[in-house]
Amino acid sequence: MSYKIAVLPGDGIGPEVVREATEVLKQSAKIYGFSVELAEGVVGGASIDAHGRPLTDSVMRLAKESDAVLLGAMGGPKWDGLDYSIRPERALLALRQELALFANLRPVKLFTALASASTLRREVVEGTDLLVVRELTGGIYFGEPKGITRLPDGIERGVNTEIYSTPEIERIAKAAFEAARKRRKKVMSVDKANVLESSELWRKIVTRVHRESGFEDVRLEHILVDNCAMQLIRDPKQFDVVVTTNMFGDILSDEAAMLTGSIGMLPSASLGGRVGMYEPVHGSAPDIAGQDKANPLATILTVALMLRHSLDQGKAADRIEGAVEAVLNGGYRTLDIQEKDCRLVGCKEMARLVRDKIAQGAQ
Ligand code: IPM
Ligand code: MG
Repeated sequence: MSYKIAVLPGDGIGPEVVREATEVLKQSAKIYGFSVELAEGVVGGASIDAHGRPLTDSVMRLAKESDAVLLGAMGGPKWDGLDYSIRPERALLALRQELALFANLRPVKLFTALASASTLRREVVEGTDLLVVRELTGGIYFGEPKGITRLPDGIERGVNTEIYSTPEIERIAKAAFEAARKRRKKVMSVDKANVLESSELWRKIVTRVHRESGFEDVRLEHILVDNCAMQLIRDPKQFDVVVTTNMFGDILSDEAAMLTGSIGMLPSASLGGRVGMYEPVHGSAPDIAGQDKANPLATILTVALMLRHSLDQGKAADRIEGAVEAVLNGGYRTLDIQEKDCRLVGCKEMARLVRDKIAQGAQ
């Protein structure tokens, strides 16, 4: 078996964490007897510098023609002043939309070794194992009308529109129920149905899909987004699968990341189209870029998700996750998860330790 992987490192710490993660991918291919053909593309701020826009047609083609996309991070202060239409983040949104990646899976699982790395108390976070299923190609990120206009009296007005239609809600609800079936069979649907009509529809359709599409074996509950934000840090163990809109999912997944000790631990998979896209949840972290300080584990765990969801290599994925756990159990930490009595290591060293464990066949 041979797979074509588009590798888009992007900006800031993107290139350094992606470099380490692709080494893990190549290593897995060797061990499990498949081959990967990696083709690198320039995206985000790096593409603005080189080509004047965040995403070129040739990179979009590269992504569409691959079996999966591995992405680093995009953006940085250098490009902050640019018009929204050509900011680095646009590349990410265009890729998600063009590849039809409506389902973004963000597993939030605490490695026991990191139970005291969180800013929250150990007894609160210990045992956290939830999955955020975020709708990724709709809602306020893409809704029209949008833009900033100047009214006749000179006042400026900014507009964005939260829109969800029945089919968009149906397919993300199904994705959540199916994911829950492979887990603890509980879905919490998050909305703001006490205020927003788009949420009223969301709740109605999620309820209908649950009842009419044969998901009665899965338990469904609804929760308002403000309450969900509170419950996540009050008692994260009550959650199994959390399904929600594009913007609520963006916010809640950053919050949930802190349950695992650091956003530097969180992988993600964007699915729904023929090609899956895989990216760490963290951003480009320009303050530590190029200094060998970044945590490569989110991107390495992202490669595990790619192996599981796009390359049908579940065993290779398990082995990577096992190796990460073993290295953390061994007391090695990057800066973001550093604790007393632990060994501080850089990005390269952390990745090397993981590859050594993979080579030893740690499960
Ligand atoms: C994320 C990021 C992106 C988003 C940004 C960089 C556009 O925050 O993937 O969570 O808002 O979706
Ligand atoms: Mg985000």
